[in-house]
Amino acid sequence: MSETKSLELNALSEADMYEVGRSIGNLLDGHAFIAMFGDLGAGKTTLTKGIAEALGIHDILSPTFTIVRHHEGRLALDHFDAYRIESVDELYAIGFDDYLSGDGVIVMEWCENVPDALPQERLEVHIEGSGGEPRNMELVAFGSKYFKILEVLSKC
Ligand SMILES: Nc1ncnc2c1ncn2[C@@H]1O[C@H](COP(=O)(O)OP(=O)(O)OP(=O)(O)O)[C@@H](O)[C@H]1O
Ligand SMILES: [Mg+2]
Repeated sequence: MSETKSLELNALSEADMYEVGRSIGNLLDGHAFIAMFGDLGAGKTTLTKGIAEALGIHDILSPTFTIVRHHEGRLALDHFDAYRIESVDELYAIGFDDYLSGDGVIVMEWCENVPDALPQERLEVHIEGSGGEPRNMELVAFGSKYFKILEVLSKC
């Protein structure tokens, strides 16, 4: 088990959420796996849009009936949505291992559906709250590669 660090953040509005995403995106400089957890409408796609924006990607979609969408930017972004996934086999059937060994950024919504498929090194984002409520986010860095992101975000 690799070392972990965590950070709590509040996002009072959709715009805040987007900005947290942008801050994360600006700190990415190579392969990364960002695992998102949170109920329907928690703000996972909003956060993803912010991350994507920082990578020069402006066409993130939601809701999605597609397991993964590929986007090209400063870094490539593969946006997974595991909402409809019933078994990790569905991920491996579309070449999940190849995504994991690629150079780009992977963002996955609904990670609670595929906990066994997550790589050991990852940044988890747990979002609480929905509707018009403010959101509370807990970011957990699994592996030192993600510590810097938490360090910078903690100073924002
Ligand atoms: N911090 C926030 N405060 C208030 N509203 C927010 C916040 N973040 C996102 N929202 C709003 O919540 C709604 C749902 O956001 P979003 O689509 O990002 O959620 P999601 O977690 O991706 O949902 P799904 O489970 O359907 O994938 C949007 O209308 C968005 O504007
Ligand atoms: Mg979504």
